[in-house]
Amino acid sequence: MTMIYEIMRALYLALPIYFANMAPVIVKNHFTKLAKPIDLGMEFGGKPLLGKNKTFRGLIFGVLFGIVVALLQFIVYRFEIFRNLSIFEYTLTNAILLGGLMGFGAIFGDMTESFLKRRIGIESGKPWIPFDQIDFVIGGLLFSFIMFIPSLSYVLIIIVFSPLAHIAVNHIAFYLKIRKEKW
Ligand code: CTP
Ligand code: MG
Repeated sequence: MTMIYEIMRALYLALPIYFANMAPVIVKNHFTKLAKPIDLGMEFGGKPLLGKNKTFRGLIFGVLFGIVVALLQFIVYRFEIFRNLSIFEYTLTNAILLGGLMGFGAIFGDMTESFLKRRIGIESGKPWIPFDQIDFVIGGLLFSFIMFIPSLSYVLIIIVFSPLAHIAVNHIAFYLKIRKEKW
């Protein structure tokens, strides 16, 4: 029971990272004016720098979603059940900073992964397992350390369990026909 509860606490801390990672896909068919590629079409070694699927829209909404989720965590922090779940002390400013860092870090981690995918010749939108499942978690965590460093056991729980949860959610979305790619 305590082990399951500790896993829940770790994943609760990382919630803004997960929503930041989902944000680009959620807003995919909206705000088309913001959908310019971050690499502005630049190439590196004859291949796209990041590729057309990494857009300013994804970056902006990733940071926004991260902040909104952390703000919700701040709002519910007054209730004992959520306060017990929280490893972090959610004040208004702390929450905005943590959410923003997690959101930016998640998208930055994913961009870094796309950069590496292009270097080894994987086309935009093609999977690279298991890195697609962990890039945003590593990025979100690393940036969040500027604000808050949880104990090592929580960090390890987040790194191990996030990809599993991510894969499960993607498969469910695939079978519900929300997602085209199973992974
Ligand atoms: N997306 C975006 N901007 C970002 C990140 C993602 O617009 N910074 C959108 C794109 O529409 C992208 C989708 O979210 O296709 C899913 O993102 P992801 O799976 O990370 O990218 P891939 O399409 O697989 O591209 P890559 O091969 O570069 O990883
Ligand atoms: Mg990726």
